[in-house]
Amino acid sequence: MAGRIPQYFIDDLLARTDIVDVIDSFVPLKRAGKNHQARCPFHEEKTPSFTVSQEKQFYHCFGCGANGTAIGFLMEYSGMGFVEAVEDLATRAGLTIPREEGERVSASGHTTELYELMELVVNYYRKQLKEHPEANRAVSYLKSRGLTGEVAATYELGYAPPGWENLLGALGHSDAARDRLEKIGMLMKREHDGYYDRFRDRVMFPIRDPRGRAIGFGARVLGDDNPKYLNSPETPIFHKGRELYGLYQARHRQRDLDRLYVVEGYMDVLALAQYGINNAVATLGTAATPEHLDKLFRLTSQLVFCFDGDDAGRKAAWRALELSLPLIREGRQILFRFMPQGEDPDTFIRNHGREGLENEQAMVPLSDHLLGTLKSRFDMKTREGRASLVEAAIPYVQRIPVGALRELLIEDLATLGKMEAQAARNLCRGTPGQDRGPRRKAVPHRQSASLSPVRKAIRLLLNQPALAREIGDLQALQAVDQHGMPFLLELVEYILQRDTTTTANILEHWRGSRYEKHLVELAMDEEILTEPENLKLKFTEIITKLIEDHRQAERLERLRNIKDASELKTLYPGGSPDIKDKSDLA
Ligand code: UTP
Ligand code: MN
Repeated sequence: MAGRIPQYFIDDLLARTDIVDVIDSFVPLKRAGKNHQARCPFHEEKTPSFTVSQEKQFYHCFGCGANGTAIGFLMEYSGMGFVEAVEDLATRAGLTIPREEGERVSASGHTTELYELMELVVNYYRKQLKEHPEANRAVSYLKSRGLTGEVAATYELGYAPPGWENLLGALGHSDAARDRLEKIGMLMKREHDGYYDRFRDRVMFPIRDPRGRAIGFGARVLGDDNPKYLNSPETPIFHKGRELYGLYQARHRQRDLDRLYVVEGYMDVLALAQYGINNAVATLGTAATPEHLDKLFRLTSQLVFCFDGDDAGRKAAWRALELSLPLIREGRQILFRFMPQGEDPDTFIRNHGREGLENEQAMVPLSDHLLGTLKSRFDMKTREGRASLVEAAIPYVQRIPVGALRELLIEDLATLGKMEAQAARNLCRGTPGQDRGPRRKAVPHRQSASLSPVRKAIRLLLNQPALAREIGDLQALQAVDQHGMPFLLELVEYILQRDTTTTANILEHWRGSRYEKHLVELAMDEEILTEPENLKLKFTEIITKLIEDHRQAERLERLRNIKDASELKTLYPGGSPDIKDKSDLA
């Protein structure tokens, strides 16, 4: 997607996001008075000094000084880029990101049309599966795969007939319609002029997002041709790395999902449904992404990864394990259900039935799979082999958030390595993501006494933006000529223009500007989260003093410019007994 994310959207997004939920989904938080706390995920500590303020929508660690907004947290913790973090929060909030400039500026009405059109496409293909003269080939193919009409109806399967202009003829009535069909990936542009159908003579699997909107298709050939599956391309409404096949149907059938099976193929989802397991989802021909897992853990607390028993399946499982580590937390469970060599969940359930697949004994907890796999790589009979195992395990353990599972894993690792638990614990010291580069160093807190009044005022505003409304004489303040003043005034203006402003709004508004560094520095100060009664008094005192000092300086300046004592009379008409000539002004 091209184009800048508009500032108003960031504001909207922050207003609809609760930083407490966002951080809590990675680092379990406990309420502490007005704030929430945890042990800091950015440095090792025994007592919690990581504090999240709901009111300010801001987190701050009194120990290491790490701080920021919900966007900043995702960037720091999960290593996402800014755009990725915004996309993640938008998905959580159910918002679509509008873009400035570019042809994909989607005023919401514009995308709505695309979703509606996609709905017509779904209906068209379903109708073809029932009515098209060639459809019996598709129907018998589906039957040969063991699917009943009921499952086909639940998953809204369809048929794209053979031929190049079926959909084109049925729905491409106008230039605008053809253009939109191409936008959603259903038509291809001919080299010179016109369009043709992207999907021909294939079974169509509509893909819906969790809100139930049709966004794309998977499409399978009826026989053994290649490519076996075609998927919709990336479009303004379809992003492969984010969506999961079957998720909508799973949620639709079962409000509370206590478990979700993650399988690899469309047909696996359908086969499981055929056997009464309606809570299976598949990635769309891509490996699982952090976005996928994050999405799933928002809906369920137990994931069962069903991977094929081949090498590719084992690799995919390992990758899923790596991605899952940072998401481990109390109450969540991640299990692996490996299929025997040569089978996938589709063939497995047909051979062994639902009980076979659901066999709890065959489910391997993530931590077992982790230690088991690592163990198999080394010679546990030698000290060297055991040392290598421990070394190899460290980066994995470090990605697991601090908690009971991490502790138990460290203990088991120590047992395997035949070392003291404390020694293993010391080796595993560190946090998820520590391998991604140098972390922030602990910052000594800047003594507030050493801050200039302007910086103190900015810090107070960052803490409590509403203070801007306490400035009596804005004009007088505007005249003050001090380092940092232009920014202080900009900040005041920004706050006054809005109904409500949080610390997070301010930090995000100036992200990427030359002021960002200064704001972040001020936000590192722990006073940013303290709320003494007299904040207002402090602020008005600073503002008054700034104005007064400026007036005083101005007066002195004018005095300095006086060439001879006679001009004093214009300044002090009544005469000043103390000033006889310029030397008294020094
Ligand atoms: P599989 O080949 O395991 O799919 O590929 P499957 O669902 O088991 O297929 P059949 O119908 O039983 O033979 C797993 C997934 O990889 C993607 C699809 O999303 C598929 O469901 N894939 C596979 C493609 O995108 N293109 C392909 O050509 C093959
Ligand atoms: Mn298969």
